[in-house]
Amino acid sequence: MNNSPTLLIHGGAWAMPDDAIEAHEAGIAKAVEAGYALLERGASAVDAVEAAVAVMEDDETFDAGRGSFLTQDGRVQLDALLMNGENLRTGGVACVERLKNPIHAARLVLDHSPHVYFVGTGAERFAMQHGMRLIDNTELIVPRERERLMAFQKAELEGATDTTFSGPLGSHDTVGAVALDCNGHIAAATSTGGTLSKAPGRVGDSSLIGCGCYADDASAAVSLTGWGEPIMKLVLGKWAVDRVAAGVSPEEAAESAIRYLYHRLGGYGGIILLDRHGRFGLAHNTPRMAWGLKTADAMQVGVTRNV
Ligand code: GLY
Repeated sequence: MNNSPTLLIHGGAWAMPDDAIEAHEAGIAKAVEAGYALLERGASAVDAVEAAVAVMEDDETFDAGRGSFLTQDGRVQLDALLMNGENLRTGGVACVERLKNPIHAARLVLDHSPHVYFVGTGAERFAMQHGMRLIDNTELIVPRERERLMAFQKAELEGATDTTFSGPLGSHDTVGAVALDCNGHIAAATSTGGTLSKAPGRVGDSSLIGCGCYADDASAAVSLTGWGEPIMKLVLGKWAVDRVAAGVSPEEAAESAIRYLYHRLGGYGGIILLDRHGRFGLAHNTPRMAWGLKTADAMQVGVTRNV
């Protein structure tokens, strides 16, 4: 098979302020180029989504890798998942504090472990045993996020309404990618620092199979961003790919997933979905979502706005 490859990525769905748009668009463009360059050279969809996500983890703009939101106690705790639609091989890590690129650790789990998911120090030890360098958690923290946490916690003490978990305005800047390679296989990857001021040890949807990420050649590849708890309760990634398996187009499945998220649990988020025919969909009910798409014929990078 010699398919024309496709890469679709997102850099978070939230109430992105005007002055953050340029950085998001630049980061998305860089990630799309990195991932698509691999697909053009015949690399696998798994390689492409890993590469695109790693670029966004390295970019402080996004809530993934360095620059992520901080936990209640001022640390960075990262979650990531990578899934290969060809054979359902999957690798996930959660609550890692000492890895610059958790998506690379997820790849190591996918490639080298009979297990699927590692957390905390066990995940860090596994990554180190497979060649990754452990860093100090402070290397993942940027001043912007210390200030954001302080402002958030001060507002909480003053009794301000917390919309981070309940409204469309909270920040959900998780990154993700879905790809179709020239052999007709699809893959998905998602990586996040989670939600602002999360309790230490909290794991969101992003790295849980079927919640924030899923891929199966028989249906579709999906990555979500948004308020993790409702997405997890609905197992929304699997819900969406099952719609595609049942014959719904990715475009309609993406839109109905976000409608379901809102109507069933009042959740907010964004979704990207791609099937093995290159048909794709994206949707969000947050004020904005950053995303990028590259195919043989087109490259689009943008921040869409809900009216
Ligand atoms: N979607 C990111 C999180 O809730 O952790």
